[in-house]
Amino acid sequence: MRIDDPKLLAALAALDVELQHGASLAELTRLGIGGTTDLLRIGRHESIADLLNLLDHAAIPHKFLGGGSNLLVIDGELPFVILQLTKLDADVIIEGNVAHVDAAADLGRTVTFCAKNNLGGMEGLIGVPGTVGGALRMNAGAYGIQIGSCVREVKLYRAARREMEILKGDQISFEYRHTSFAPDDMMLSVKLELPSKPYQEILQGIRLCNEKRRSSQPLGQKSAGCIFKNPPGASAGRMIDELSLKGFSVGDAHVSDRHANFFINAGRASAADMLGLIAHVRERVRSAYGVALENEVVVWND
Ligand code: EPU
Repeated sequence: MRIDDPKLLAALAALDVELQHGASLAELTRLGIGGTTDLLRIGRHESIADLLNLLDHAAIPHKFLGGGSNLLVIDGELPFVILQLTKLDADVIIEGNVAHVDAAADLGRTVTFCAKNNLGGMEGLIGVPGTVGGALRMNAGAYGIQIGSCVREVKLYRAARREMEILKGDQISFEYRHTSFAPDDMMLSVKLELPSKPYQEILQGIRLCNEKRRSSQPLGQKSAGCIFKNPPGASAGRMIDELSLKGFSVGDAHVSDRHANFFINAGRASAADMLGLIAHVRERVRSAYGVALENEVVVWND
C-alpha cells in the first residue's frame, strides 16, 4: 500500500512521522519473509492519536510492528501500512530498582544495561530477540523468567479507545506467551522493577543462558524463534522431533536440524512455503498425538 496524497504526506511530516515508501517486511523481520508497503516511523508518542485519525479518515489500514522477531508476513504488495516507534538514544533510564524503558528498546541491550547497573532478574531473557514492547505484548520468556513478572507499570496507547493509558503490573494478566493486552494496544514504555544483584553474578547467569541457548537453538539462521507454543505439560519441539520431522521442508522453509520447534528460512522461502510447513507439521502432530498445536508466531495474512 502506498501513501501518495500530498495533503496526507504534509500532515504526516507535521506530526514528525517519517515515511518510507515500499519498505520490505522481509528486511524488517527475523524470518526474512514478507512483502512491501509504506512504513511510518513515529517520532513522538503524542502524535499517535492524530496519526490514527488521519489514517482512519483516509481509510488506510495499519499494523503496528515491534522488532519483527516473532512475525510471519504474507508476500507481495501488502494491503496495510506499518507503524513503528522510532528508537530513542536514551531508551533505558535507571532510578533505584526501577528501569524506565522505551518500548522500542532492544530487549537484549536492556538486560545488559540493567545488569551493568547491578539490576538482575532478567538473565533468562538475554538471547530473546526483539524489542521490549514486543516482549511485553506476548510475555516473552525463557529459562524460567517471563518479562511480565518484572513489570511495575506499562504506558500504552489503546487504539480502540483512542487514549493513552498507564496500567499497573497487577492490572495486566501475564500468562504463558499471552497477555490481557488488546491486539491493537500499542506498547509505549514500561517501568521494570528489578532486584539488586552484583554485576558479576548477573553476568554468570547471562553466560549460562547464552550457552544453553547456543547448544540447543539454531542461532544465526533466519527464524521466528519457536513456531508453536508448548501445549500444557508437553514440548512441541520434542513431539516434532519424535516424528522425525527435523530437516523436513516445503520449498526453502525447513524444520531446524537443531531444534524442531524452530522453522528456518534457508534461502528464499515464501510465506506460502512457511505456512505450508506449519500446516503440515501441525497436522502430523495432531494425527500422532491428538494435540492441536497453537501458533506462537504471529501471522499477518490479511
Ligand atoms: N527437545 C527435543 N528435540 C528438539 C527440541 C527439544 O527432544 O528438537 C526436547 C529437549 O531435549 C527438552 C525439551 O524438548 O527435553 C524442551 O526443549 P527446550 O529446553 O529446548 O525448550 P522448549 O520447550 O522447546 C522453550 C521456549 C523457548 C525458550 C526455551 C528455554 C516455548 C514454545 N519455547 O523451548 O522459547 O527459549 O524454552 O527456556 O515456550 C520462543 O518463545 O520463541 C522460544 C524459543
